[in-house]
Amino acid sequence: MTILVTGGLGYIGSHTVVELLNNHFDVVIVDDLSNSEKFILDNIEEVTGKSPVYYPFDLKRRELLTQLLDAHKIDGCINFAAFKAVGESQVIPLDYYENNLFSLINILQEFKTRNISNFIFSSSCTVYGQADEMPIDENTPLKEAESSYGKTKQMGESILKDFATAYHKKVSLLRYFNPIGAHPSAKLGELPIGVPNNLIPYVTQTAAGIREKLSIWGDDYPTPDGTAIRDYIYVVDLAKAHVAALKKLINDPSETVIDIFNLGTGKGSSVLEVVHAFENANQVSVPYQICERRAGDITIAYANADKAEKELGWKADTSLEEALRTTWEWQQYLESRN
Ligand code: UFG
Repeated sequence: MTILVTGGLGYIGSHTVVELLNNHFDVVIVDDLSNSEKFILDNIEEVTGKSPVYYPFDLKRRELLTQLLDAHKIDGCINFAAFKAVGESQVIPLDYYENNLFSLINILQEFKTRNISNFIFSSSCTVYGQADEMPIDENTPLKEAESSYGKTKQMGESILKDFATAYHKKVSLLRYFNPIGAHPSAKLGELPIGVPNNLIPYVTQTAAGIREKLSIWGDDYPTPDGTAIRDYIYVVDLAKAHVAALKKLINDPSETVIDIFNLGTGKGSSVLEVVHAFENANQVSVPYQICERRAGDITIAYANADKAEKELGWKADTSLEEALRTTWEWQQYLESRN
C-alpha cells in the first residue's frame, strides 16, 4: 500500500516515514520545507535503504495535490503538515488557520472525490486544556484551546469527524503528549529554528553551550517540586503508534471509523526531573534559573494511554533517560555537520 505523508520531512513525520518503510508501506512525502530541511530525505534513505517519493510543495496549492494523486495510487494519508508554535500562533493566527485548515480541507476534498479512506490526523493533548483530573483519557472533556494553534487542532478534529460521518471514511485522531528524542541512528531529530520555545531543545542547546542558561518557567506550581508536569513520549515510540493506528484502520471492516487515541507514556515528569534526567543520561550539566511562570502554561498533563495499548497493541516503553540520550547524540550530529 502507498501512504501519503504530509510534512514527512518534519520531526515526527520523518520518524514515521522510517517506521512505515520498515513495515513495507510505500511512501509519498509532501513537504514544503517550511520547518524542515532537505538533508532529512537523504538521511531517511540512509537509515532505511529505501527511497520514498518526494514532492516539495505547499498543500494549499490544490492543483499540485491533484496532479500528485493523478500520478500515484494512494491508499491513505498521515497528515503532519502544519504550523506548530503555540506562541507564534497568537501573533499570526490567520496564518495558522489558513495553513493548517486549508491544507487539511484540500486533502479531504480530493479523498472524497477519489474514494480514498484511511486518514490519520496529528492532534495534540492541547485539545484538553487544563483537565480537571489526571490522568487524561479520551473521554476527558475538551476545553476551548487557549492558543490559535490549539484551536486549529480542535477544528481539524471536528472537520475529520464530519468528513468520516458524511462520506463514510475511516479516520484516526492521535492526541500526542510531549514528543521528545531522536532516532537511534542520530540521523533524524528535531530541528529547532532560532531560539527554541520547547523544553528539550532548550535544555539540549544549554548543555551544548549555545544558550547560557535554561529559564525554568515557575517553581510555585502545586506539584511536588513546584515545577510543571508533562508526559514526555519518545518520538520513535510515537512513530510506531502511527503505523499501528494505520493498520487498525486498514483492517477495520466498518465503512465509517472515528478512532481517537491518546499517545503518551502515562507518566508525568516535572521540569526539574527532566533537567536532572538529561544531566544523568548524558553526564553534562544544564545551568538553570527559576523565572516567573510562562503565560498560558498549564500545571499538569499526563495521559492515560490504556486505550491505545488495548486497541492498537502499542505502548510507549522507552525511558525518559534513553530518549534524552538520543537527543544529545542528535545534537552532536548537528554540530558535526557545521
Ligand atoms: N519550559 C521551561 N523552560 C523552557 C521551555 C519550557 O521551563 O525554556 C517548561 C514549560 O513551562 C512547561 C514544560 O517546560 O512547563 C514543557 O514546555 P514545552 O514548551 O516543551 O511544551 P508544552 O507542554 O508547553 O507544549 C507542548 C507543545 C505543543 C502542544 C502542547 C500540548 O509544544 O505543541 O505540548 O500540551 F500543543
